[in-house]
Amino acid sequence: MKGIILAGGLGKRLEPLTRITNKHLLPVYSKPMIFYPIQTLVDAGIKDILIVTGGNHAGEFLRLLGNGKEFGLKHINYTYQKGEGGIAEALGLAEHFVDKDKMVVILGDNIIEKSIRQYVDDFAKQPKGAKILLKEVEDPERFGVPELKGDKIIKIEEKPKKPKSRYAVTGIYMYDARAFDIIKTLKPSGRGELEITDVNNDYISHNEMTFAVLDGCWTDCGTHESLLRANNLIAGSG
Ligand code: G1P
Repeated sequence: MKGIILAGGLGKRLEPLTRITNKHLLPVYSKPMIFYPIQTLVDAGIKDILIVTGGNHAGEFLRLLGNGKEFGLKHINYTYQKGEGGIAEALGLAEHFVDKDKMVVILGDNIIEKSIRQYVDDFAKQPKGAKILLKEVEDPERFGVPELKGDKIIKIEEKPKKPKSRYAVTGIYMYDARAFDIIKTLKPSGRGELEITDVNNDYISHNEMTFAVLDGCWTDCGTHESLLRANNLIAGSG
């Protein structure tokens, strides 16, 4: 199982904090944001990790993390996303690294309270397809939102005005290598990006998507409010 952390983007919603650095290098309580998704993967037993970053501050990741000794790793892989093509485009850059294996993808600004090991172990046993993790939230319209029927997801809508459930699709995704074939067929969305939601909807339409509701707290750090929530989450659990 490979691990991929997506840490590109311009972090525009966090201006001016992100004017001179990458969002994923900003502090969340006592550590730079990127430390948390790395720890999440390591705690799930994943040692083969690729960080996809971009923008003007990509070199800082290497200076900060080196070969990942702090996390008990021997080596960290890095790659560079040019421009602002979206989460799915960033994931496409991991194809050579994943090389037909399965993968756990985590967005570099997703902070969680508990381990995802059980979900990763379940996905390792799943013969093929994908698995996503959902979490009930107050403001689903900020996220990808699943429409549920019985115990199945029938569709995910990206940032819907009228959400069809109270769940957010968290930025922790598990895929087989077919994800890369799907990415090659995607067209940019209204916001000019290749959307991870379109990858997920392809798996759903092929009846290859499973899901679980994430145990414990979860937040992203995309806005000032959610960044504050992440700080409080870590401070509280420290
Ligand atoms: C992205 C995804 C969205 C998901 C969210 C989780 O949103 O597009 O489906 O719910 O991450 O953090 P973005 O951060 O690009 O607004």
